[in-house]
Formats: sequence, structure tokens, C-alpha cells
Amino acid sequence: MVYTTYAGEFPLQNGRPNVEVVIVSDAKAGGELIAGAMAELLRRKPDALLGVATGSTPLPIYQALAATVDAGGVDVSRARVAQLDEYVGLPAEHPESYRSVLRREVLEPLGLDLDAFMGPDGTAEDVRAACEAYDRALAEAGGVDLQLLGIGTDGHIGFNEPCSSLASRTRIKTLTEQTRVDNARFFEGDIEQVPHHVITQGIGTILEARHLVLLATGEGKADAVAATVEGPVAAVCPASALQLHPHATVVVDEGAASKLKLAEYFRHTYSNKPAWQGI
Ligand code: PGA
Repeated sequence: MVYTTYAGEFPLQNGRPNVEVVIVSDAKAGGELIAGAMAELLRRKPDALLGVATGSTPLPIYQALAATVDAGGVDVSRARVAQLDEYVGLPAEHPESYRSVLRREVLEPLGLDLDAFMGPDGTAEDVRAACEAYDRALAEAGGVDLQLLGIGTDGHIGFNEPCSSLASRTRIKTLTEQTRVDNARFFEGDIEQVPHHVITQGIGTILEARHLVLLATGEGKADAVAATVEGPVAAVCPASALQLHPHATVVVDEGAASKLKLAEYFRHTYSNKPAWQGI
């Protein structure tokens, strides 16, 4: 079968595009869908390594997963959790270190303690060595089974800003002023308190996870989402690297889907796929 698009024709591969796009009604529905996939993974593999992201977008996922756990729907007691990125120079116990944020938003609601958690050491004197150590630790842990991702309005994933190498490994990045301004909301509105540097898993590192699941909500993300799934694979839109991955899922609400030229095609394929396939 051949599907005709604005860009011409391309053959359908197994009835769906390489990057599966699922359009949901709202953020809550997206959170429930993704939490369902995480629960399904944990039933198959109770000690799965879950890659988690910070930011506002993934919160409905964590809430839905915690609700499933509370209702006895899945046992997460053996789950492991890996961090995507971290500020450099913030003490680990600082309330806005991503380790602290993830402890509050993910570990505690799921009843997991810090033994289940791994992340880069943002306080290390030798940051480069800390980055290399984290890449090694992820590999030694067997690799990430399911990596959650948000997306920046500029197409960043993790803190891989535009023009990050698509082969990049975990490394230090300097935050743009815009990102520091955006994140000042977590630091009493005071940009001076926002660190200049972060450690982020590289795009090459992220691509090693077995399943990538990106959630984007709101019209503000619509251009970045369209560039990610319908644009070329290009470092200028780091999230477009998902097109290189054999199992990538992009879950979007109506706002974030609003610039997709293939929206009807995505709706059609998702509503007709076999239920057993999951996302
Ligand atoms: P947000 O951040 O979920 O707070 O929009 C996403 C990101 O910058 O990756």
C-alpha cells in the first residue's frame, strides 16, 4: 500500500510510520496511555529500567502510574529509575536538583527509594568523568527499557539544544539564556540562582533505550512536534533523531498535534491497529 502525503508518496511500513504518533484528547489521556505502557512493561519485566524526564509535561504520566500502583494494578517494587539530565553544581539535596525533583515526583509516589535510582553526579569535580561514568552505568545496568521524553519549543530533548550532535554522549552543556529565564520559575523567579551548566544524556545515549516515548502537550509545542515527526532528521531539531529509532512513540494532545499535516493519517492508523500491539 502507498500513502499519499503533501510530500509525495511513501510506502506504509507494517501499516504505520516509523515514528508512531498517537493523538490524544488531553494531557491526562496522554499520561494514562503512557503509564499503561509502563505498567505493561513492568508486568513483563519487573526490574525494568525506566528513563524519566523532568518538566511539567510528564507529571500526568507519573500521577497515572502512581494511581495504577495504588489500585494494585502493577507491582513496581523492583523497578529501577534513571535520570535524563541534571544541573551542575547544585547540591543533590537542593530542592530543585533534578534528583530531588524526581524523588518527589516519581520515587516517593511509587514507593521507591534512592537505591532504585541512578543519575549523573552534578556535584562531581571532574564533570567529564562523571558523564562518562553515567554512560557506563547505564550500559552496565542493561540499558534503559523505556525512556520518557519531553520536548522544548526549540525541539530539544533532555538538554540537547539545537545542533547537538545526533551521536552525542552524556556530557556537560551550557544553558542558553532563554532556558535559564524559563527555568527561573523554579528558583523563586531569580535567574541568578539558575545554574549555567547541566549534564544531559546525549542524543546517541538516548537512542540506545529500547523504547522512546515522547509526550508533548499544548499548541506551544506544535511546531517542534511537526519538525520532529514530519521534518528531516536534522540536528537543528534534536528530537527528529527519534526517526532513527526502531521503536519511538510520540504522544500529543490536540494542541501539540495542530501543525501536523498527517494528523488524519496518524489518527486512522492508531485507531485501526491491533489492540495487542500497545504503543
Ligand atoms: P516542559 O519541558 O515539559 O516543562 O515543557 C519540556 C522540556 O523542556 O524538555
